[in-house]
Amino acid sequence: MSRSSPATAATERLSLHNVSVRFGGVQALDQVSLTVSDGEVVGLIGPNGAGKTTLFNVVCGIVRPTSGEVRLGGTPQRPVTHRLVRDGVARTLQGLGLFAGLTVRENVMAGLSSTVPGMAAAAIGAHRMLRHDREAARRAEDVLDELGVLDAADRRPGDLPYPVRKRVALARALVSEPALLLLDEPAGGLGAADIADLARTVRDLAATRGCAILLVEHHVDLVMSLCDRVAVLDFGRLIADGAPQEVRADPAVVDAYLGIEAPTAPRASGGAA
Ligand SMILES: Nc1ncnc2c1ncn2[C@@H]1O[C@H](COP(=O)(O)OP(=O)(O)O)[C@@H](O)[C@H]1O
Ligand SMILES: [Mg+2]
Repeated sequence: MSRSSPATAATERLSLHNVSVRFGGVQALDQVSLTVSDGEVVGLIGPNGAGKTTLFNVVCGIVRPTSGEVRLGGTPQRPVTHRLVRDGVARTLQGLGLFAGLTVRENVMAGLSSTVPGMAAAAIGAHRMLRHDREAARRAEDVLDELGVLDAADRRPGDLPYPVRKRVALARALVSEPALLLLDEPAGGLGAADIADLARTVRDLAATRGCAILLVEHHVDLVMSLCDRVAVLDFGRLIADGAPQEVRADPAVVDAYLGIEAPTAPRASGGAA
């Protein structure tokens, strides 16, 4: 709402302007421009090696663009990963990335780690730290409850079925109440019922929390039914960005990706662990 242009009613939570990334001889991203507004769900698809993960890493400040600019909520991005939570950005990883030695509750609390005082805690004193921990635990439990997995709070991830672990990973991203949520293959390894639940959850997050959501996903049917907009990368270039039906019918997209990925029969493997 802060922008005056009538074409952009919602705030542009994320915008990339001509972002390029070069790794030695590989052009991982080539002049990519993309926006995601508050309350919008954007799907990012493309063949393996197209640059999807690199784009996420650029948004998170893990990879610096060779050229171009990234803005978060209209402000030029600070390339400091540990400030991500304060900048309102959270991400799930392509694999689960849960800590095996921590309980589910502690794993989710870790999603707050850059908002709770870290090293400074020693100076604040044990009492306040304990209070902060209780507050963090309560917030973690609230999100676990919201995602229907609160009864797993005291368990370790390794003892839980994969779909539950996947929700725990989502809870860890949500606990900081991000304005921008990046999901890397959220449906990977899930069956049809869990994918339907996931789609409802994602729509809900965009609608009720007003989250801007960018998701990488190989499950084309999910992407097309869930997303407001779909962007397609191929060899680091953005070859399409539009409404799902338009993108699905775009010959360049069919050539580069959909023809290979067979949209009616996504690979059952769920991608990389
Ligand atoms: N750290 C890196 N060093 C060198 N090359 C990389 C690095 N990360 C990614 N690449 C290359 O950049 C290209 C895009 O990779 P990636 O973003 O992982 O694609 P995707 O996630 O779409 O499969 C690939 O050719 C990959 O090999
Ligand atoms: Mg990838």
